[in-house]
Amino acid sequence: MNAAATYQTVEKAGVRVAVLSPATVEKIKHALGRFPKPLSAVLPAFHAVHEQFGYLDEPMYEAIAEVLGVTRAEVAEAATFYTLFPKQPVGKNLIMVCKNISCALRGADNLISYLEKRLGIKVGETTPDGKFTIWKVECLGSCGTAPMMQVNDQFHENLTRGKVDALLEKLAK
Ligand code: FES
Repeated sequence: MNAAATYQTVEKAGVRVAVLSPATVEKIKHALGRFPKPLSAVLPAFHAVHEQFGYLDEPMYEAIAEVLGVTRAEVAEAATFYTLFPKQPVGKNLIMVCKNISCALRGADNLISYLEKRLGIKVGETTPDGKFTIWKVECLGSCGTAPMMQVNDQFHENLTRGKVDALLEKLAK
């Protein structure tokens, strides 16, 4: 999924609802069966929808609410809590650089500046080819291996410019 991605929606009672794939619906229903309360299945639902679209937004909240049998407001509220799910289209590789104290003391700012220079974008932006987005995020719980960043669902730790160069080259292919 890249920054220019679009997806199909249907209009129900004047509200746009994302069209989930049968596989996504199946995953959400499976999660529903594992929890006593429907809203408890919202996190696996976010993972399933994120896997399909690469981010979460309002029409997707509507679709999740419909499958879970809860309100859109409940889904939207939960989504604001889980900040690691993008709420708008992002690049194929979402680079989340930790900015908290251990990483800051070990060069997170320099790392971010270096990434911005290498990719020609600022924090919060996506490269024109849709391959990379840079975010600054709160502690990712890997303070002992600072500075670090998460790219999609993988941690990259004890970062140096050399390691960043090698990683970007690999991801750009
Ligand atoms: S401060 Fe960076 S991972 Fe905790």
